[in-house]
Amino acid sequence: MTFQKSSSTSSIFHMLILWFVIVLFCADGLRAEMGTTPNLKHIVIGRCYSYITLVCPNSSYDCEEIWREFEEAVMRKSRCNVKIKDYKRMFHATPQTLTCGKLLFWSKTRELMHSYAAVTRRFWTLEDTLVGYMFNDLIWCGQEEKDRGFDFNSCPDWSTCVNHPVYSLWRQASQNFAAAACGNITVLLNGSIENAFNRKSMFGGVELDSLNPRMVDHVNIKVVANLEGPFLESCTQGSIVDLINVLQTRGFRWTCTDSDL
Ligand SMILES: *[C@@H]1O[C@H](CO)[C@@H](O)[C@H](O)[C@H]1NC(C)=O
Ligand SMILES: *[C@@H]1O[C@H](CO)[C@@H](O)[C@H](O)[C@H]1NC(C)=O
Ligand SMILES: *[C@@H]1O[C@H](CO)[C@@H](O)[C@H](O)[C@H]1NC(C)=O
Repeated sequence: MTFQKSSSTSSIFHMLILWFVIVLFCADGLRAEMGTTPNLKHIVIGRCYSYITLVCPNSSYDCEEIWREFEEAVMRKSRCNVKIKDYKRMFHATPQTLTCGKLLFWSKTRELMHSYAAVTRRFWTLEDTLVGYMFNDLIWCGQEEKDRGFDFNSCPDWSTCVNHPVYSLWRQASQNFAAAACGNITVLLNGSIENAFNRKSMFGGVELDSLNPRMVDHVNIKVVANLEGPFLESCTQGSIVDLINVLQTRGFRWTCTDSDL
């Protein structure tokens, strides 16, 4: 399906614009009182089988092995000390080749991004990779004392942890995703907030630095504001100008549009 800017599709987008937010990063999804997602193991393994059976048939991943490596990474450390490198073996078990020219990065445009990706079917987001698919929206942490299993009663907030188990996994996944990007990439940013490009977001803090200017052909930035505004940032206004400067300094070719999708 190719995307055409007809009034019906744009009104779908405008409806979708009313949803979203939350960068992977954002503490909202991860309140201190919330513990590990119930049935974590079944969800993760089930999603893995769903991925290898329905999403990417014929991919040869060992779902049980991936779970074992994941569990190992989280269990063997105390709950606030799961480092990126602790997931190394898990990431080894989940190698993935990404198609050039199809990657979509986003920040604070979560729902829009997913519908954009789904509607156009042209794009791949982090959540379309095996690891992103398996762990999307889940929470986990070990017990205070290591080797005692997952804590289903409470998990610490990102901000109170040196190495939060959820954050470390996403950070590595984001880094891998960005480092593998090639051809044209698309970056979707929210024009209705200040600091649409935020160095503390997963995109600004991790992915941007992992992009390789020799592999990436063009960085195509799309700034999307809410239908009803406010219109705070654009290609020539606010933090997006900083992003463009960073891209230029690092030798990327880029384009930026702020009027449509
Ligand atoms: C999966 O592999 C089988 C056997 O190699 C092949 O017949 C089938 O078409 C493949 N399916 C997909 C979706 O690639
Ligand atoms: C932009 O962010 C605001 C505030 O977080 C959110 O309400 C809105 O849906 C987002 N808009 C787009 C287009 O992503
Ligand atoms: C890549 O992006 C540039 C700039 O938007 C565009 O001119 C070019 O056609 C794109 N290439 C592909 C293969 O889409």
